[in-house]
Amino acid sequence: MVYMSKFEESKWKNKQSALEFIENADMYILERQRLFAIMKSLYNHFLADNNQTIKVLELGCGDGRVTHELLKVDANLEGTLIDGSSEMIENAKNRLKSYPGLKFIQTTFQELVNIDLLSKNFDFVVSSLAIHHLQEDEKKILFEYIYNHLNPKGFFLNIDVVLAPTESLENWYLKLWKEWIIENETRTNQLESFKNIPDQYKNNLDNNPDKLENQLKLLKSAGFNNVDCYYKYGIFSIYGGQK
Ligand SMILES: C[S@@+](CC[C@H](N)C(=O)[O-])C[C@H]1O[C@@H](n2cnc3c(N)ncnc32)[C@H](O)[C@@H]1O
Repeated sequence: MVYMSKFEESKWKNKQSALEFIENADMYILERQRLFAIMKSLYNHFLADNNQTIKVLELGCGDGRVTHELLKVDANLEGTLIDGSSEMIENAKNRLKSYPGLKFIQTTFQELVNIDLLSKNFDFVVSSLAIHHLQEDEKKILFEYIYNHLNPKGFFLNIDVVLAPTESLENWYLKLWKEWIIENETRTNQLESFKNIPDQYKNNLDNNPDKLENQLKLLKSAGFNNVDCYYKYGIFSIYGGQK
């Protein structure tokens, strides 16, 4: 199978890009705290009350922030974290060093679906700001792979950017994002400004966001139930489904 987007050529192979994201994401990812709060609410509501160890798989873990947020609500979870960047995997190991038993795998999503590296199924598969780097056909393959690696009633949640249905909406959403960054910087007295990030995001060929509607359709055709967009603010969305 030929894959169009090669992780090896993306900016995530670059150490500086990795560090820049880790240090600054909270300043420019729109409502990042709210996104995590919704993820934790879904986790508590659908998964955490059955008194069993919950098996979590995080795709594109970066420095492990998402799993770290989940560990704050469930310190007993059994976590597997995957990322294509060795730099990011090292940062995740460092951030989460006080939680023994986590498993870290350095591999790309493309390799993951081709050479099945996972020996078990999961109750919760989560990803944040990583899957939009894939082409639409790759997303389809990944969603099917996730469905096949979920336990019954397990959930997949993707916190990610999406493409607006029309160009005029896309332009407004990017402006809305910039307005949020400026508002946040004013509120927190930031000296460095990240207001150019929405333009950089739009011009970066590593980003391949698809329309939300298409991705919900892909999830439904992979077999997921309870497919929906659980939150949306401009291009930032949380969507997913249950097995
Ligand atoms: C924007 S960062 C997000 C990190 C983390 N999920 C967070 O929200 O803090 C995107 C991450 O996805 C990883 N990534 C991007 N494309 C990937 C691919 N094809 N396979 C594996 N990892 C990938 C990058 O290495 C990077 O760590």
